[in-house]
Amino acid sequence: MPERNYHIEPNQIGIHNNLTALVQKHQVQPFQKPPNQLQQTIFNRLSRLVDQQGRPLILDCGCGAAMSTVRLAQRYPHHLIIGMDKSLHRLMRHAQFKRYQQYALAHWDNIILVQANLVDQMLLMTQANWQFDQQYHLYPNPWPKSKHLARRWHGHAIFPTLMALSKVTEIRSNWLLYLQEWQYAAQLLGYQTQAIEAYQSNTPLTHFETKYLAAGEPIYRLRSWLPISHF
Ligand SMILES: C[S@@+](CC[C@H](N)C(=O)[O-])C[C@H]1O[C@@H](n2cnc3c(N)ncnc32)[C@H](O)[C@@H]1O
Repeated sequence: MPERNYHIEPNQIGIHNNLTALVQKHQVQPFQKPPNQLQQTIFNRLSRLVDQQGRPLILDCGCGAAMSTVRLAQRYPHHLIIGMDKSLHRLMRHAQFKRYQQYALAHWDNIILVQANLVDQMLLMTQANWQFDQQYHLYPNPWPKSKHLARRWHGHAIFPTLMALSKVTEIRSNWLLYLQEWQYAAQLLGYQTQAIEAYQSNTPLTHFETKYLAAGEPIYRLRSWLPISHF
């Protein structure tokens, strides 16, 4: 059977022309749309659990079927790992979530899995002064069409809030330009970033990473840090 080709062909050459203006606009006009009652209720439940645990936090954004959340929990046993995804369908693919979930939130060991919208939850986390040691964005939806720039995380109005939530942010993608844009946007906001690296691993962290590695699709990784002035 021929291997699937996951390569992204954008209708855009190089960093999007509007990215600078968009990030600067979001920097002076931070995202403030109030979350709806459901998202507020989810955050209240999450918040109670986080307070009870009293552990340092790691956020796995768009965790899908939560393979990465579990791997991170094993790698960082003293942390509480929050895996969040808006898709109940994807979360339900995880047997423990299916078994333990009540009202779309499950907690076991040092893991919380929750169905929620990251945009709303990040705003609520910021208002509650949460700070993550690490935040992962593993294979976010790329939105490769040029007209969808504002749907990419770095083009979204939540981006300055997202970046300030975590001491270290790691992003992985099979679309190099996505990481180049993220790096550019993060640097515009004053974040330190490492060089983007081609990433190879024998122990994939997510389902998307598993299929890309199996198909020989190149994948890339970017890490960034809060500026010293935030500490
Ligand atoms: C391409 S999948 C990657 C899933 C997983 N990280 C992996 O690598 O296998 C992107 C995931 O992000 C989730 N997602 C996108 N936007 C989101 C949002 N605003 N809030 C929560 N989850 C979101 C989608 O539901 C989807 O599961």
